[in-house]
Amino acid sequence: MAIERTLSIIKPDAVAKNVIGEIVSRFEKSGLKVVEMQLKQLTKEEAEGFYAEHKERPFFADLVGFMISGPVVVQALEGENAILTNRELMGATNPKEAAAGTIRADFAESIDANAVHGSDSAESAAREIAYFFSK
Ligand code: TYD
Ligand code: MG
Repeated sequence: MAIERTLSIIKPDAVAKNVIGEIVSRFEKSGLKVVEMQLKQLTKEEAEGFYAEHKERPFFADLVGFMISGPVVVQALEGENAILTNRELMGATNPKEAAAGTIRADFAESIDANAVHGSDSAESAAREIAYFFSK
């Protein structure tokens, strides 16, 4: 199996709820290793650039506003099948549709305040990790 890296963001709603530790614990218990980690306040420009693929979507302005509403925890996670493993731990985008026991089912309130981001493909993971952690 392939060792991959993926980008995770613990979003402002989850940071505000004091569940950083519970979320990171789920990653670690699933065999994902935190190899980069930073608590940071995103600027509007950083959030817009990060979510550039969604810039024509009707929810884009609200998404950017939410992502800059408080600090986030940006991480690179490493492990076997890290990209899919993280997406499975996260659950569906809409927490109402997220499987029981997933991060979004347990900690998210709504589709727009949904606790976590995770890269959706190898290409996204490479771009997103470089976006925050290029050396
Ligand atoms: P998307 O990449 O489709 O979801 P995911 O985070 O599961 O990869 O969308 C990015 C974010 O945009 C999503 O986490 C929350 C926000 N969003 C909305 O606010 N409304 C929507 O209808 C969708 C699809 C996404
Ligand atoms: Mg996505």
